[in-house]
Amino acid sequence: MLLVDAKTMQEMDRHTIEAVGIPGIVLMENAGRGCTDVLLKEFGSIVHDGCLVVAGPGNNGGDGFVIARYLEQRQCKVNIICLCNLEKFRGDALANLNICQNLKIKIHECPDEETLNKRQAIFDSSAVIVDAIFGTGLSREIRGHYATAVSMINSSSAKVLSVDIASGLSSDTGIYSEPL
Ligand SMILES: NC(=O)c1ccc[n+]([C@@H]2O[C@H](COP(=O)([O-])OP(=O)(O)OC[C@H]3O[C@@H](n4cnc5c(N)ncnc54)[C@H](OP(=O)(O)O)[C@@H]3O)[C@@H](O)[C@H]2O)c1
Repeated sequence: MLLVDAKTMQEMDRHTIEAVGIPGIVLMENAGRGCTDVLLKEFGSIVHDGCLVVAGPGNNGGDGFVIARYLEQRQCKVNIICLCNLEKFRGDALANLNICQNLKIKIHECPDEETLNKRQAIFDSSAVIVDAIFGTGLSREIRGHYATAVSMINSSSAKVLSVDIASGLSSDTGIYSEPL
C-alpha cells in the first residue's frame, strides 16, 4: 500500500479532480460508499441497533453524510451530529448535507459544548459511531467541543469507524496532541 502524507493526498485529490476530471462529488460518493461497505462487513450484525455519524465542518463530514444516506437506505436508524452550524458547509459536503435533509435523516446541529452535551444519550444508545470529524484537513490541535466529541466517542461502548483517520491524529505523524 502506498502511504502518503496529508499534503500529498490533497495534491492527489486536486489532480484527480482538476487534471483527470473526476468531479469531487464522485470522489466523495465513492469514499462514502467504500466506507459503508467496510462498516457493513465489520459491524453488519449490529448496524440496525443504531448508527451515529459525527460530522466535522469539511469534506470529511461530507463523506459522513454519504455514509448516513447509505445506512438509511438499509433501513438503519441513523442520527447525524454536526459539530458546526449547518451554514458552514460548502461544496460537495453541502450537497450531501442537503440530500440527507431531503431524506429526513435526523440531523442535530451542535456547534458548541452545550448543544453537544445535550446529545450524550445518542452517543450512549448508538451501536456504531462513524467518526467523520476531521481527515487530512486537520490543521491544528483540537480544542473545545471538537475535543469533547472525540472523548464522547472514545468513552462510548459503540464500535467506531473513522473516515480516513481517527479525528485528532495528525495524518503525517499519527500523533494526537492533548487539547490545552
Ligand atoms: N470530494 C472531496 O472533496 C473529497 C475527496 C477526497 C477526500 N475527501 C475527504 O475529505 C477530507 C479532506 O477534506 P477537507 O480538506 O475539507 O478537510 P477536513 O479533514 O474535512 O477538515 C477541514 C475542516 O476542518 C476545520 N479544522 C481543521 N482543523 C481544525 C481544528 N483543530 N479545530 C476546528 N476545526 C478544524 C477546517 O477549518 P479551518 O478552515 O478553519 O482550518 C475545515 O473546515 C479527507 O480526509 C477525506 O475524508 C473529500
